[in-house]
Formats: sequence, C-alpha cells, structure tokens
Amino acid sequence: MTKTFICKTQDVPENGMRGFDLNGKRILILRSDNQVFASDGICPHQEVLLEEGLFDGKVLTCHSHLWQWDVCNGDAIGLAETPLDTYQVSVVDDSVYIEQRSILELCAIFSGLAPDLLARIESAGQYVNFSAGEAIYAEGVLAKDIYILDTGRVEFIVDRGDRIIYSGYVHNRGEMFGWATLMESNATRLAKATCTEAARVLKIPGESLQQLFDEVPTAGLLVTRRLWIEAVRQLAGAKHGNQ
Ligand code: FES
Repeated sequence: MTKTFICKTQDVPENGMRGFDLNGKRILILRSDNQVFASDGICPHQEVLLEEGLFDGKVLTCHSHLWQWDVCNGDAIGLAETPLDTYQVSVVDDSVYIEQRSILELCAIFSGLAPDLLARIESAGQYVNFSAGEAIYAEGVLAKDIYILDTGRVEFIVDRGDRIIYSGYVHNRGEMFGWATLMESNATRLAKATCTEAARVLKIPGESLQQLFDEVPTAGLLVTRRLWIEAVRQLAGAKHGNQ
C-alpha cells in the first residue's frame, strides 16, 4: 500500500466533491459532514467526469445515465451495472491522503511474492506516460522491457502486410504486457502496442528483473511458470500480441 497526498480538506466544498489529477488518473474526493471519501473520478460506464454529477452525502450519481454508487464502499445502486473503485482515506492535519495498492499487488503474475521483493521490482522500473494514439513499442523490435498498466488502455496490432490482425488489449490496472524478454533472450515484439487513450505504465527492464530473480530463484521459477502458462493460453486462443 502506498499513501498519497491528494489535497487539503478545505480544497473540497463541505458536503460536496471535487476531482483531482493524480499522475494522469482522476480521483474524486467527497466530503459529507465530518467524513471524507475517495473514489475513481471517471464513470466506469462511459468515461464521464463524476465531479459533474450529484452527491447527496451518501450516494454519488453520474449525471449522464444516472448510475449511482454508495461512496462508503463503491457498491452499485439502482441502474449502475458495475461498482465504483473507492480508496481508503486518511486525514492528517487537514491533509487528505488515499491508500493505493501497488500495481504489482494487482498483477497476477507476481501474486504472492514477498512485499519487499515487489517493492524492489517496482523500484527497478519507472513510470512512463503516453498520449492517446502514441505507440509504446513497434512490432519486430527487440523486446527489452516488460510493462504493467497503471491507467489507460493499450491495444495490440499485428501487421501481416496484406492484413492487419487485432490481437487484443489491456485496460485493467495491474495487467502486464510485453513480457517476451522474460521468455527468451533476443526476443522480438510480436505486435505493435498502441495507447488508445492516454496511459501510464510501469516499464521494467527485463535484465533488472532477471537479476532480481537470480537472487530469489523461487520467485523467478514461479513467475516463469506462470508466464509459460499464459503463453500457452494465448497461443491456444491464437492471440500472442501481449508478449
Ligand atoms: S456515463 Fe456515467 S452513467 Fe453513463
């Protein structure tokens, strides 16, 4: 868990709400009496800003199609078809913080690894922002890094000359892609990765990850085994763009 400063309590109107940008992600802070809540600031239905909606002190309503959520826990109410991601909030001396899980804790491939190893893996990489339409890597180039999605959406396209093959996408926080470098040396990209909306990713050099796995071989074996299972699953589905 990481604790991140968002704003001062007085930055948000009493019994109201306000959105804030956090590294390219919109966070909504809501105040109700003496309580402070936090949720994703974008509607999970059609990417509308939730700060433009209504808040009655307990229920948040998106103005676009009237989906509603309980701000205490993000539970869907009424017409809403999916819950809203909420965050644990702490207020210290009028400063509002949210607790965020590390994206590595959300990444299935790294599930169960020791927290200190996850922290070392995260610090071996760097967060990179991409604009909508920008390519993260091209097909055929040497695969040196792996990527884990923080925000946004990334799509994979294979160019066969006479036809373009759509090879899938990632859009959930913690989804990994571009992991061919962990499977074989001198691997090349099997698809072009393009951001279909502004995205933020954690980019980790495969070499650094391999060094960490050499130090902790049990973790390396576990991750490699999971990657092979994922590779077989993708090949069985004739999808291989995420590598
Ligand atoms: S965009 Fe929010 S409910 Fe449809």
